[in-house]
Amino acid sequence: MTEAEIVARRGAFDGGVGAALDAMALLSVHEVGVFTALVEGPATAAELGQRCAVSPWRLGAFLDRTAALGFLAKEGERYALVAGDQALFAGGVGQRAGLTFTDSATFFARLARGTEVLRTDVAIPVAGTGGDATAEERARFLRHVHERSLAGAAEVAKLLLARPVTRLVDLGSGLGTYATALLREAPAATAVLVDRPNAAPVVEAHIHEAGVEGRARFLAADFVEEDFGEGFDLALLSNIAHNIGADAMLKTLRRLRHALRPGGRVAIKDLVVDADRLGPSSAGRFALSMALFTERGGVFPAGEVADWLEATGFGDVETHQLRDAAGSYLVVGHLR
Ligand SMILES: C[S@@+](CC[C@H](N)C(=O)[O-])C[C@H]1O[C@@H](n2cnc3c(N)ncnc32)[C@H](O)[C@@H]1O
Repeated sequence: MTEAEIVARRGAFDGGVGAALDAMALLSVHEVGVFTALVEGPATAAELGQRCAVSPWRLGAFLDRTAALGFLAKEGERYALVAGDQALFAGGVGQRAGLTFTDSATFFARLARGTEVLRTDVAIPVAGTGGDATAEERARFLRHVHERSLAGAAEVAKLLLARPVTRLVDLGSGLGTYATALLREAPAATAVLVDRPNAAPVVEAHIHEAGVEGRARFLAADFVEEDFGEGFDLALLSNIAHNIGADAMLKTLRRLRHALRPGGRVAIKDLVVDADRLGPSSAGRFALSMALFTERGGVFPAGEVADWLEATGFGDVETHQLRDAAGSYLVVGHLR
């Protein structure tokens, strides 16, 4: 490499690390309330500093970087929401932009532990993996997942109801978004929703809100290790593989052979990732967070999921690319 090439390459590495500063700017600008303040119309850094009760001078740099990244527009000295982004922030919370899930101090404190997690092989416990989270953290996480899953759940229910379903088990149900979407379309079906014990209050409340009491029941259990019943004609594992990983999935699939009726089906929904796991970048980033926050979770190409099914006694495997649940697949196997 020439000296000039080394300098250019070093610049590329600097750019990779600089992405952390970009994320900091975006999250901070959101957290102090700039996006919601701009719903009312364009404003200068001085005006926004006053409205958001922060230093206008420092805010200027944060706003410029956020604008340079394409998350704000800049017209002269005034900043504005990018056309159309009102729809993301008009509710005042930025939930639809996906920016309310965590606060930036917690977010960066966790990311700062990447090297430690690599060295110790011990994951950082978070609500999403069901570990030591308080009931309140679990409830917040599960509601967040629910909001984001509604459209995809209707699509998955429709696909699965191409065949009759009478008795469903939803393993790692979360609130039960998928199970209740299916029960609404199949009035004679019943479901068992299995999740960690401290999910009980929020799952039971959702069963009530969804109007499916009497047909849906919550069961507090570790479905990898503990009994969750039998006689089901459909088992659903939605967004579970990325959480528990290959070995626990294989163990669960082997157990499902005895929990399903002859001809029963298992449906696995998870995130699309390329066979070499290098893309798309959203999946790669998701895999990184699974490496931080779960013991053995990750992203698994649909072909690998199909292999798990074949290896554990399921055949006629079908793979569907989901449209409403963008970037996800549904792999369905039939008990042989
Ligand atoms: C990412 S959420 C998915 C929720 C829902 N299936 C969906 O797709 O919206 C994963 C859920 O699985 C639960 N979970 C993970 N491992 C579990 C286990 N071994 N036993 C019971 N629940 C588990 C977590 O508590 C969490 O609620």
